[in-house]
Amino acid sequence: METLLLNENQTQKAGELLKNGELVAIPTETVYGLGANALDAKAVSNIFKAKGRPQDNPLIVHISEFDEIKPLVREIPETAIKLAEKFWPGPLTMIMKKSELIPDEVSAGLDTVAIRMPSHKIARKIIKQAGIPIAAPSANTSGLPSPTTAQHVMNDMNGKISAVVDGGECEVGVESTVITLVTNPPKLLRPGGITFEQLKSVLGEVEIDKAVTKPLEKNAVVASPGMKYKHYSPKTRVIILKGDFEKYKAYLNSKKGENIAALCFEGEEKELDCKSVTYGVKSDDLTQAHLLFYALRKLDELGVETAYARCPSQEGVGLAVYNRLIRAAAFEIIDLK
Ligand code: TXA
Ligand code: MG
Repeated sequence: METLLLNENQTQKAGELLKNGELVAIPTETVYGLGANALDAKAVSNIFKAKGRPQDNPLIVHISEFDEIKPLVREIPETAIKLAEKFWPGPLTMIMKKSELIPDEVSAGLDTVAIRMPSHKIARKIIKQAGIPIAAPSANTSGLPSPTTAQHVMNDMNGKISAVVDGGECEVGVESTVITLVTNPPKLLRPGGITFEQLKSVLGEVEIDKAVTKPLEKNAVVASPGMKYKHYSPKTRVIILKGDFEKYKAYLNSKKGENIAALCFEGEEKELDCKSVTYGVKSDDLTQAHLLFYALRKLDELGVETAYARCPSQEGVGLAVYNRLIRAAAFEIIDLK
């Protein structure tokens, strides 16, 4: 199959393809999504094939107006209305009880559905023009870092999907925050551009799922199936070094002669004696989120065996950066204290 590269003026074409059951990758403010008609079980099952995604990992359904939720869920909780008023459109996904309209392929057999209204202008235009809700996971091959440019999508999906719409770089750079409203109190399943602190400011009490910062225990029941898979991983082995920059630098110096690279903050590379990729400014979690996946893909171009990563703070959007980086590192963390 030839994969068309569409520009931002070709949203109508993208909408038509989606309506006809084809797969189209679309830009959003978080990462690129691999879209299909969420009400068409066959189209949705093709997403799993193109990505090599495990069948038991449910998808997020994207809408362009709040009212489009109504037919998709059994009832709209009060909490969803409050969160939507504050954070939609934007990088927040809410889980609710699903209606009969949602195919099992979307919810992976669960009785819930995840819904998001993206803020990206092109994404919303495409959803509107398609006239249907769009199921879309991140548009990467399962396990690899999520794509934040159309070129990343092409690298993974060329020949496997009908089209990619190029909308430039994704602003946030990590996937949306996922919160379930089915539990009381609501539970944060995946941190993202809307922070834990912001959610609490609207809802009062919010729990954080253990899997956000820790590896899952063997045989644990998972709230979010996506948490249990190896994720966001470049081919290069990544190890996180916890501690200040002086200790980090000393550790890398002790590895002199080995085939390594640094995954560090901007400016630090000048003081290091090895290959390096930077992922944002130390004191600025938004720049880190914006660049993390880009940096992880870049690492694989260096041809090194191991990359040693600086550890981000877990405050604000930093929690999302930390959550993705520990998975990219398969939870290999060395404490330099
Ligand atoms: O920013 C994003 O959310 C991007 C863009 C394209 O919108 N999409 C995205 O989708 O990251 P994906 O499939 O890569 O991640 C969806 C996550 C997975 O961890 C999945 O397990 C979880 O959401 N999820 C989806 N439906 C769920 C449900 N009903 N219950 C629990 N977790 C669910
Ligand atoms: Mg994903």
